[in-house]
Amino acid sequence: MIMKKFAYPIKARILASALSVAAIAVSAAESGKSIVSGELWPDDKGIHINAHGGGVLFHQGVYYWFGEHKVAGGAGNTAQVGVGVYSSRDLCQWKNEGIALGVDDDPKSDIAKGCILERPKVIHNAKTGKFIMWFHLELKGQGYGAARSGVAVADQVTGPYRFLGSFRPNAGVWPSNVSDGMKKPLAPEESDRLSKVAMPGNFVPEFARDWVFRRDFAGGQMARDMTLFVDDDGAAYHIYASEENSTLQISRLSDDYLKPAGKYIRVFPLAFNEAPAMFKCRGKYYLFSSGCTGWAPNAARLAVADSIWGPWQALGNPCSGPADRIGKTFDSQSTFVLPVEGKKDAFIFMADRWRPDNAIDGRYVWLPVRFGKDGRPFLEWMDRWDMDAFNNR
Ligand code: DGJ
Repeated sequence: MIMKKFAYPIKARILASALSVAAIAVSAAESGKSIVSGELWPDDKGIHINAHGGGVLFHQGVYYWFGEHKVAGGAGNTAQVGVGVYSSRDLCQWKNEGIALGVDDDPKSDIAKGCILERPKVIHNAKTGKFIMWFHLELKGQGYGAARSGVAVADQVTGPYRFLGSFRPNAGVWPSNVSDGMKKPLAPEESDRLSKVAMPGNFVPEFARDWVFRRDFAGGQMARDMTLFVDDDGAAYHIYASEENSTLQISRLSDDYLKPAGKYIRVFPLAFNEAPAMFKCRGKYYLFSSGCTGWAPNAARLAVADSIWGPWQALGNPCSGPADRIGKTFDSQSTFVLPVEGKKDAFIFMADRWRPDNAIDGRYVWLPVRFGKDGRPFLEWMDRWDMDAFNNR
């Protein structure tokens, strides 16, 4: 008998999914020291790792993986718990270190339980000794309209992190890569016209007028999907999907990493990139991203620049393999690029395979970043791999 897809109720689906993934868990656990993308990844207690949209910080010999702690069902697409953290020395076996930043039971808090808290990233400030977390924050009950950045700080890498506040970055600052003629707030009639335009997350003619960053000059730039990047000289950058998702922005952070430093650029205006993930190799900056199709995967994009301030050059889809797989980034969306310690030019592309119907069951796709003969990075599917993939290249 052919069952109609999703003909049975969501609770049954969640249970069935949990049972079928439990069987897979055994094989993933047995793998011990290898990466098996898309399967269950048991932590030290045998529970699937719960750190979605995450990023990894290497500190004193240990990797710390921070990510969104999801709950079962659709409610998991909002923050019911907070940001989880796991530790590992080998990138394959992970210990659950608990909740690094918890949501607040106070409904007046910016991070009230039920807000949307996505893509947390943590960096360490060598000068202050603090650990700093940035994340994409949407205020409870406002959908994706707030488009803010949240910042939290801790003395210990695993936390607890103290929430400092949230805001739209770069209020009152013009991007440094636009002409002087564009550095003017919208006229009242332009504002009025823009306020009547629905912003569906793809192109509408008003975008072509570069109105959105000008609209947001006074109140700060919209900041949704985001990552952080720390350069060799210790300068840190916040990279985020802005301007109604139409344009990425790269923004320097202050020396203490707690706020924007007052310099930023617009990257690929009107190209609708999200899910940014940056790395640096042999003096070049690389930026993975995706298109904007909600939780559904689409084709990855890669860009390169000699300076973080650009110019950025689009390199197209970095995935290699059968068309149906590479058109959807192996059913995943980028979140971070993890430099592997002690190995030269070794980077792991970290991505999420979202499960919005049962958010806690989202899977992880990790692939080694490979380099072609021309030096260009690319990604290829691997059923199972380990850190030896970085040897003898
Ligand atoms: C795509 C983003 O990359 C995710 O982080 C999340 O915000 C979803 N959109 C929501 O639809």
